[in-house]
Amino acid sequence: MHVKWYSIILLVILASPVPIKFMFSSDSQTPIQHSNAILADVPFFVRGPTVNMVTNESALIFWRTDGLANATVWYGLNESVIETVANTTLDTDHRVRLNGLNIDSKYFYKVSSNNIESPLYHFRTAPADGDDVKMIVIGDNRPTTISYLQPEEFKQMAQMIIDEEPHIILMTGDYVLDVSDNHETNLAGWAAFTNISDSMGHYAPIYAVVGNHDTGAKTGTLKLEYFFDAFEQYDEPSTYFSFDYAGAHYILLDTEEQNNEGRITGDQYTWLVNDLESTDSPIKYVFGHRPMYPLSHLGDSIDSNPEERIRLQQLFEDNNVTAFICGHDHLFNRLTVNGVVHIITGGGGAPVYNTQWGGAYFHYVRIDMNYNHLNISSIMLTGAIGHNYQLPYTGPLEIELRAIWNGSSNQPNTLPEIYFSEVPSQQYYSWDSEENQTELTGLPNVNGQHTLEVYALDSDDVWYYERFVFTTVGGVTTTPEQVPIIVDPLVLGGIAVAGVAVVLILLYRRRK
Ligand SMILES: [Fe+2]
Repeated sequence: MHVKWYSIILLVILASPVPIKFMFSSDSQTPIQHSNAILADVPFFVRGPTVNMVTNESALIFWRTDGLANATVWYGLNESVIETVANTTLDTDHRVRLNGLNIDSKYFYKVSSNNIESPLYHFRTAPADGDDVKMIVIGDNRPTTISYLQPEEFKQMAQMIIDEEPHIILMTGDYVLDVSDNHETNLAGWAAFTNISDSMGHYAPIYAVVGNHDTGAKTGTLKLEYFFDAFEQYDEPSTYFSFDYAGAHYILLDTEEQNNEGRITGDQYTWLVNDLESTDSPIKYVFGHRPMYPLSHLGDSIDSNPEERIRLQQLFEDNNVTAFICGHDHLFNRLTVNGVVHIITGGGGAPVYNTQWGGAYFHYVRIDMNYNHLNISSIMLTGAIGHNYQLPYTGPLEIELRAIWNGSSNQPNTLPEIYFSEVPSQQYYSWDSEENQTELTGLPNVNGQHTLEVYALDSDDVWYYERFVFTTVGGVTTTPEQVPIIVDPLVLGGIAVAGVAVVLILLYRRRK
């Protein structure tokens, strides 16, 4: 059998008019040779091809070969892909731009280097501003202990996302376990990730923020080259940038700046203010890795600097930001604060976090949107919808508690975080049903259980109410006061008279 197999290869080599390269299939490690035929995934294509920076008329196709090669892209509106763009310059990284594409159309494409062709893929060009767009968001897919192996859940969801045929994919950070001082280990870890991310990138452009596991910060020096290599960007690589797609504005932030982890500050904050002022898009998304209102990573997120969090929230409110979407906490959560939707989507494959707030399931987020309507869903591994939220929002005003769990024990004066889904026209707080206050104060000083009642008036003059229960520990312990028993003199007199009467009756009976 082997003799027969090698004989065939030898005959092909001798008969071939063009140089033939030997490669190994990724699955079987069996030597195979390729000529002009369309082939399955082969190591000759080290990366991609992926579709990047798609607009309503253009796209950039990227791929990497494991040796110098020329580059051609075949593309078209059907599988015959008759149009071509070629680059004869020999290189290993190939970036070929397709221009003059039709708006909101499904394009098929394949690439070729040195006569070796990729499989056929497809992508969608952007719709007109405000038309229907499907966006997918996924994050925190990182492995747990073995840096090369990506979680099976991530692989499974990558295929689900491909099947969704989204226009655009966003990723919210923590793609690898770690970036160390060992270059070879880093390459292997990132290759395991890009093998999967590129499988999605064949079909839709991916934009990504950097996570704390992706920077190499623990080594003392940021090693962002692996992150930059994994995702194509518009211009010079940057960890924060923005772009427009189908009339929506997308801002990607860096919560991992060295020595400023968990902060949006300095030049980046100045840039963010200017960027928000420069757009008039009715839909504005901001992405970052660490949450503003974490559920698990308390004090390890943007909440670590309360003043800056307030400043950022206010900036989002002032500029009508639609949603801030992040990861870091391995769960799903949606919290609306003063009209700004905050989504934590950290269920991409790393072990999920169990908190009192729920949402501990593997998932990605699907957002179907146009200028009139946003439909936001978390999609579980089963395909079931875990949570759904729609804009414009028509439900009741939401009063939510964060940072301190309802029912938990805390020191006196610890301040629960209460958030409203819209800015209430009036709000009141009452500890232990005492007089309403307009300002929220911390837990009462007396040890034991306390209730906090929160009232909020919405823009339609409807009152909403929530009641939370907390326990104070470490405060003052009180003993019940000795209350003197006060008895009415008339009652006392009556009792005395009755007693005398009973005695007289008893004496009378004894005499008889
Ligand atoms: Fe993280």
